[in-house]
Formats: sequence, C-alpha cells, structure tokens
Amino acid sequence: MFDQIIQEIERQGFSTRPHLLSLQDLTEANKFFLSHTGDFKEALVGSKSERKRVESIRGDLTLWLDPSDAPPEFRKVFRLLDDLKAEMNKKLFLGLKDYETHLASYPAGSFYSRHKDCHEKESTRVLSFVFYLNQDWSPQDGGELILYDKNNNEILKVEPTAGTFICFLSEEFPHEVKAARRERRSLTGWIHSKELC
Ligand code: OGA
Ligand code: MN
Repeated sequence: MFDQIIQEIERQGFSTRPHLLSLQDLTEANKFFLSHTGDFKEALVGSKSERKRVESIRGDLTLWLDPSDAPPEFRKVFRLLDDLKAEMNKKLFLGLKDYETHLASYPAGSFYSRHKDCHEKESTRVLSFVFYLNQDWSPQDGGELILYDKNNNEILKVEPTAGTFICFLSEEFPHEVKAARRERRSLTGWIHSKELC
C-alpha cells in the first residue's frame, strides 16, 4: 500500500489515496470529536511572538494530539503514520524523525486561505499529511484542498471525502482549504526532520 504513495512522492511530491481509513475508523474518530467539542481551540496565525485569530486567513478549530499517547480512537492512524515514515526513510532517505498532529474542525463557511506549511525560516517540516474524517461528504459540500505549484498554478484538487488521505512535501506546495458548507473534520500533521521535544 505504501509503495504507491512513495513512488508518487518521489515522482511528483504529493500522493492521495481515497478510503485509506474504513467507515469503522471514521465512526471511532467522530465519536472522539463529539465527546471533545469543548477542547478544540481557535487556530491562530502569525509567528511565535504575535499569534492572533484572523478568520479571513483561517477559521478552523484545532485539538493537538500527542503521538506518544494516542487516544484509542486514533491508534490505527498513528500506526499507519509510523509505518509510512519507516518505509519512506528506507526508500527515499528523507530523514524523517518525529511528527506532530492536530484534529481540525472547520465550521460551515470557514476556510484556510493559500499558505505554505513552513512558516518559519528554520522550519523542519518535511511532509504534510491530512486524513479526512467526515463519514459522508459530497461534492456539493465544498471544502476542497487545492494544491498549487511554485508558480501558483493549481495542480490538484482533493475532495475531503470519507477516509481520504493526502500527503505532500511541505516546502514545495502552497495550498488552501476552500469554504465548506458544513462542518469539515480532519486529522492533519507534519513529519519533521528533527526530534520534537
Ligand atoms: C493545514 C492545512 C489542509 C486540509 O492545516 O495547514 O493546510 O485539507 N490543511 O485540511
Ligand atoms: Mn497547510
């Protein structure tokens, strides 16, 4: 299963797989969302010294998860990420170390305007990944992820359908999340080239 992802990363820098998570996995994930609604915090923008809420840039709510202490509902996701990381290091020599992840909930109407995932100059983010967690998502619901190349040409549109997975090289692709017409749920994260303490 990882072979195709790895080949695509090598060839084009991104890879997407529909249905990487099963409906059972999504049921578990959504139970977790429902029982932790109050723990999600408004995502902020800006550098470390000046973080603020700017809904014209990003309107999602996030809840960070500790990969070393994964809630049972997400154990499979973390196992998948561990295996993917190991395979990538074996085949692509990306020197991937630790990853960080958060759950994200985009309320209806919210979006994340075009950005790159390496905000800071010394960013050690190598691979960005997202699992889409809504159980039923139709094209009319919007919320697409759009990937651009370095010249800002649109190169990929991903619908956040049940269990879809996408990963891409963090440095290479500006991207944006289009407004959704209903709550859009995901698990998003980054694998770094250094250990995170
Ligand atoms: C992010 C991001 C993409 C998505 O959280 O940085 O770009 O499709 N997410 O949710
Ligand atoms: Mn991003």
